[in-house]
Amino acid sequence: MDTQKIIQQMTLEEKAGLLSGKDSWNTLNISRLGVESIRMSDGPHGLRKQYYDNEVDDNDSIPATCFPPATTVACSFNKNIAKIMGEAIAKECLVEKVNILLAPGINIKRNPLCGRNFEYFSEDPYLTSEIAAGFIKGVQKNGVGVCLKHYAANSQEAYRFSNDSIVDKRALNEIYLYSFRKIIKELNIESVMCSYNLLNGIYACENKYLLSDLLREEWNFKGIVVSDWGATNDRIESLKAGLDLEMPSSKGRNDRLIVDAVKAGQLSEDIVNNSVERILNLQKNFQQKTSDILPLDKIENHNIAYEIAKESFVLLKNDDILPLSVDDDFVIIGDLAKNPHIQGWGSSRVNPTYINNTFYELKKRKEGIKYSRGYSNIPEECATLVSQAVKLAKEHKIILLFIGLTDEYESEGIDRTTLKIPNNQYRLLEELYKVNKNIVVILNGGGVLNVEFFDHTKAILYTLLPGQAGSRAIVDILFGDVNPSGKLAESCPKKICDIPSYKFYPGGSRASNYLESIYVGYRYYDTYNIEVRFPFGYGLSYTKFQLSNFAIDNGKDEFFVDLDIENVGDYPGSEVVQVYVRNKTDNTFFAFQELKSFDKVFLEIGEKKHLRMRVEFADLMYFDLDSDKFELASGNYEVAIGTSSRDIKHTFNIEIQGTKDDKVSIRPDSYHKHTQFNIDDFKLMMNSSVVPPQNKKVSRPFTFNTSLMETKKTMFGKILHSLVTKNIKENAILNEESASRQADYITFRTMVLLGGFSYYKAEAILHFMNREFFKGIISLFKKERKDPNGKE
Ligand code: BGC
Repeated sequence: MDTQKIIQQMTLEEKAGLLSGKDSWNTLNISRLGVESIRMSDGPHGLRKQYYDNEVDDNDSIPATCFPPATTVACSFNKNIAKIMGEAIAKECLVEKVNILLAPGINIKRNPLCGRNFEYFSEDPYLTSEIAAGFIKGVQKNGVGVCLKHYAANSQEAYRFSNDSIVDKRALNEIYLYSFRKIIKELNIESVMCSYNLLNGIYACENKYLLSDLLREEWNFKGIVVSDWGATNDRIESLKAGLDLEMPSSKGRNDRLIVDAVKAGQLSEDIVNNSVERILNLQKNFQQKTSDILPLDKIENHNIAYEIAKESFVLLKNDDILPLSVDDDFVIIGDLAKNPHIQGWGSSRVNPTYINNTFYELKKRKEGIKYSRGYSNIPEECATLVSQAVKLAKEHKIILLFIGLTDEYESEGIDRTTLKIPNNQYRLLEELYKVNKNIVVILNGGGVLNVEFFDHTKAILYTLLPGQAGSRAIVDILFGDVNPSGKLAESCPKKICDIPSYKFYPGGSRASNYLESIYVGYRYYDTYNIEVRFPFGYGLSYTKFQLSNFAIDNGKDEFFVDLDIENVGDYPGSEVVQVYVRNKTDNTFFAFQELKSFDKVFLEIGEKKHLRMRVEFADLMYFDLDSDKFELASGNYEVAIGTSSRDIKHTFNIEIQGTKDDKVSIRPDSYHKHTQFNIDDFKLMMNSSVVPPQNKKVSRPFTFNTSLMETKKTMFGKILHSLVTKNIKENAILNEESASRQADYITFRTMVLLGGFSYYKAEAILHFMNREFFKGIISLFKKERKDPNGKE
């Protein structure tokens, strides 16, 4: 039936029912009108389909291939491999009748400490867009829809349900919205997920600028906007702003508010109809698509996970020790060799079909190879483990040392607090170094680690989060069967205090000022000449490449860079050629350079290839605070071609006739003169004489938007906080401190929406905490009205 006809026949209650989930993962079906529901599941690096439709528990999902997470895939700098991964995940979705994969996560890594960085691609918006676009094309090719998340400026896990991201319009448009804009304009995207946080004072889910002005009007987005799970604040305001679908089901409660608001004349039924139409269209689209179920070849997908891992691992250091030969005298030290940290915790956690471990893979190559565990999370065990490892290290020539972040360090819901590897591992390395200098580190972890032990190693292979088949790739690289070709998608600073937002990240309990503006990652380090441990785009190979015959062809709307690349070393291998553009005009402040094109090319020994790389002028635009739109600055630009952001082989100068010749009137000193970012200049950028306080003292009355941290001084609050902490600890291997920090950030609203408490129970607790005991008792006896659509 035609969508409009269906809408005409729907009751207001049915319409409102369609605007939120039927349960935790499906949309509503209306059998009498032939409307079937569609199913959504996480994402991003594999299918996480819960066993039960009304559960959101992270640990209870069907087995699926755990591919390397986005943080790893991005280091492949390979759009095609991302596409193959998308296709493979989509096959698993088809078999499980999942229509929309809640992926990819395209937030920019503002600060390496963000706990969810492993789910995101890069600190660079261009790289993020390119790799994400490859992934999306793969998913869609096999008939599954995607959901771009988390829209927008969701850069931290601390206070994630209540934090207000205060971002100036340049940073917002050039950094944080770049990938959303580019992907939505270029591809046909089924859905966008709005994030938990507020943006400049307004919840993302109620933000008309984000959801309607930009998304629908400027970018012509035709899909649906879905809330992050439990992110809806005021359902009526969110609907007016452009949030179509609330997830998960509020069990009919918010649907009733919609019905009441329409009946009371506070909400136009046209707004309801528009969202209903979009959801129906999407449902119809997928109703037709899932008919042919494929048989799933689990081994094939496991092998694809291996291919991605081997393209992505980054060789950070090699003092002539790698590759190894099987005849070399080496030992394995480190628990991560047997228990690899293949993914992070949280809603992205996949229940893997198999897991390779490196110890086993190495044993296949060399029978009788020796292993020592080296460290443990139990402090009492450490001394013995270290002395066992040291004894072994003395007896052999080379140590393969497996260190990095173990499972409890990377999780949705909390940020990391350090860039260091755990102390017990650091101490182990130092003890080993005293007796054996030939240490090859295999470094595991999705977040940036500052590698303070750099000088005490001979080689470092960074495997990020390797996914379920990564161990095989590690062994193939160690023995030179595979030549490493990954490049860092995130800069690695020397010290934590070098991070641009170090002094003001993650902000206070209520807001986070993005004082550094556009200076994220290498945009900052390269502009302010800060020495880094490893620059953006960096990664070594076993072979050598020579770039030559550079030429530039400058056109009307684009330019092309031509060059030859030759493998002049002793191994076949791939290199990533990177084109950075440096805006030399004085219109406003600019980052020293920005990545605008890259190409990964494979070459046999002695082989030479020609590359032609394109950069569109549209990609060189900046957001102009005077004209309030994107402009192309007229003047001089330098084009830098290299193999990392700090290994530039050739530069060209070009003149571009842009759309704007004048200087922007807003010229904050700290951004122009390269000093310290400060609040006064930030206010100028925000065009506001005040920015909200980052911390607010919260006192009674507590509301649904109060967090557990804010109530834990009360008796009820304390009990509740410890119950929630216990629950978190049971569901993830977090230690007490991390689980408690995660509990701190949860608000009463999200707790209700995610099914922790019924609305009236939470209301009762709030009344008790507000010392309104009589009202509290009444709430305890209140019952929800029966839902006409049967949601419970
Ligand atoms: C996460 C989303 C995820 C959703 C459903 C939320 O907590 O932020 O990324 O898709 O849960 O699991």
